[in-house]
Amino acid sequence: MKTKTISLDQMQEQAEFIKKIFAIHRQHGRQPLAFVETYGCQQNVSDSEKIKGMLSEMGYDFCDKTEDADLVLYNTCAVRENAELRVFGNIGALKHQKRRNPDMKIVVCGCMMQQEHIAETIKRKYPHVDLLLGTHALYRFPQRLYEVLHQGRFFDAENEEGSIFEGIPYYRGAKPLANIPIMYGCNNFCTYCIVPYVRGRERSRNPQHILDEIQQVAKEGYREVMLLGQNVNSYGNDLEEEMDFATLLREVCKIDGIERVRFMTSHPKDLSDALITVMKEEPKICKQLHLPVQSGSNRVLSAMNRKYTREAYLELVRKVKSAMPNIVLTTDIIVGFPGETDEEFEETLSILQEVEYDTIFSFIYSKRVGTPAASMPDVMDEEQKHRNFDRMLALQNEISKRKNDAYLGSTQKVLVEGISKNNSDTLTGRTEGGKVVNFIGDQSQIGEFVTVTITKTQTWSLFGELSE
Ligand code: SAH
Ligand code: SF4
Ligand code: F3S
Repeated sequence: MKTKTISLDQMQEQAEFIKKIFAIHRQHGRQPLAFVETYGCQQNVSDSEKIKGMLSEMGYDFCDKTEDADLVLYNTCAVRENAELRVFGNIGALKHQKRRNPDMKIVVCGCMMQQEHIAETIKRKYPHVDLLLGTHALYRFPQRLYEVLHQGRFFDAENEEGSIFEGIPYYRGAKPLANIPIMYGCNNFCTYCIVPYVRGRERSRNPQHILDEIQQVAKEGYREVMLLGQNVNSYGNDLEEEMDFATLLREVCKIDGIERVRFMTSHPKDLSDALITVMKEEPKICKQLHLPVQSGSNRVLSAMNRKYTREAYLELVRKVKSAMPNIVLTTDIIVGFPGETDEEFEETLSILQEVEYDTIFSFIYSKRVGTPAASMPDVMDEEQKHRNFDRMLALQNEISKRKNDAYLGSTQKVLVEGISKNNSDTLTGRTEGGKVVNFIGDQSQIGEFVTVTITKTQTWSLFGELSE
């Protein structure tokens, strides 16, 4: 399928709606406030930066409490049931607020809205919601919001799958880190996963658009970029020109002002030797790799449609480690995939021991309507799944602590990101490998590189002292 880039004319049309909404607000003579909450992955975080960019141009400022808001927007995630339940809970809780303040507008967008049964439930059970917007119609947000403000409630079921929109204004996160989507959608159809259904097929952004955007953020003072895609390793497959991810990375590294480049996520089946080489050769590419394994059992991997074996995965890890001995490796694991036995679960534990990841992100399997795994028979009860999950965390905590202990006494180049959440005297930043380091410093150092000697380690983070 050819990727359709939404034309500038259409974006221009949306820009007109932004101006109209701005004019409505100016008539009211008061700056409206928007509360935006984001669930799910970096892709959604990046979409919310665009939503906030549009809202900001419409004249909105942002607030942290729904009570203060003229507009509440939830950007939702459908990947697991608990994310969905939180959204339903939050929308439900707004019912009374809306009764007190009928002018408040409620918008629900993102991946959940791409599922028909969920959109139907919201229409039926949550009539106080004003606007539903799917992931593919994001660029139409100004028009739809204008219709809501002018004509009352509007539900959006339109689906424009297969497009890419350029030119939406961004309201970016704080410096020094910028998210840069390089592609959208997914073609892999892992049998447990809803993402391909709610995000559509893989489509790559034009490389020049990506490079221009990175040049722009570099000018604005961002120092680190995170290149985003569900599987960055297949970047370029759908483009007319010859282009792949390794080549794109080389171009990104040429941009002055950008000093660190990270990316997420890499599907093991598509990780090329060319990528390993560019990671090794380019000093700006952080020596950190998120390589989701999901399971250590070949039978489960095959039932998941992951298209690699345990052996092939371990061989890949060996190659990566021999090219970059200090690489920080992280992974995703699913516990309790339908049909997973205790023996198969043990194989996942053993892969954790063999690879020694720095960190893992683990999830108990959650049944997703419409995916192949939803109709696969299960053999394990939920309690056993939870016990296995806890065992896995205990094992990984030991490994993570041991990995972090190896940093004691070392000096690390840290890009300072901000003030620590727990202590306002403390700054927080990351090492090249992406490990969080806390240390006492001066707020003027935010956005700068500093050298820190590691003096204390925990399972999740490192502590240190500034060195001269
Ligand atoms: N595209 C990325 C990640 C997508 S979702 C990749 O392929 O790695 C992030 C993680 O959520 C997945 O890696 C998987 O571990 C987990 N996940 C996805 N669907 C799930 C489900 N139905 N139940 C539990 N975990 C799930
Ligand atoms: Fe989901 Fe698999 Fe695609 Fe990742 S690669 S988004 S896990 S289908
Ligand atoms: Fe969730 Fe959608 Fe990301 S389902 S994980 S927010 S792509």
